[in-house]
Amino acid sequence: MKIYKVKNYEEMSRKAANIISAQVLLKPDCVLGLATGSTPVGAYKQLIEWHKQGDLDFSQVKTVNLDEYKGLTPDNDQSYRYFMNKNLFSGINIAMENTHVPNGAEADSEAACSAYNAMIRDLGGIDLQLLGIGHDGHIGFNEPDSVFPAETHCVDLTPLTIEANKRFFEKAEDVPRQAYTMGIKNIMLARKILLVVSGADKAEILAKAVEGPITPQVPASVLQLHPDVTLVADEAAMSMMKL
Ligand code: GLP
Repeated sequence: MKIYKVKNYEEMSRKAANIISAQVLLKPDCVLGLATGSTPVGAYKQLIEWHKQGDLDFSQVKTVNLDEYKGLTPDNDQSYRYFMNKNLFSGINIAMENTHVPNGAEADSEAACSAYNAMIRDLGGIDLQLLGIGHDGHIGFNEPDSVFPAETHCVDLTPLTIEANKRFFEKAEDVPRQAYTMGIKNIMLARKILLVVSGADKAEILAKAVEGPITPQVPASVLQLHPDVTLVADEAAMSMMKL
């Protein structure tokens, strides 16, 4: 694992955007795996800025997002599709048909998930997967479990995740209880992984994920087995790591 320890959220965002832009420059028709949550927002802002300056062209780029709440339609301002349109896609020259998010409006989980797996395969897999981490070690919405789930599937969100994500909703009861998420296999098949982490509240889980035992109880720990992971984390997030 390549590790960049940076000062703060701003530096983390800039470094992550640098790595994503390097991928786009080296392979203009690459497949980017993207993430939601508050952590990647600064990196997305930076990418938009570089695009506006004329330094980055997304016209051939394809994107696949990790996850989506089940039951939310794209026009719902809490859906991850809405989030991606607002925080990245509307600011860059990507073709909307080249952007993919699991279909939260599809009530048939099996249909939604198998279509998503087939789409990722048809694109030829993911070149660079961007990841954040949840407080319980989840990546995408792969929550702690006794096994590693394989491909895109429907999950029941844990109380901890519902609690963490309620800040985006009016009240906790509005947070959907289920989501569609890429599985560990989809993520691990990405050719490169970029994990971004910021803040003292993530320090304990980051240390467990990177230095602890590899276990489905800490889903992000599986990244220790991936041959090409880059971690960009700020000092606060790395404060409990041994190095
Ligand atoms: C959500 C998303 C994850 C994200 C995590 C952390 O649950 N499904 O993909 O990594 O939250 O979010 P944040 O970056 O806001 O801490």
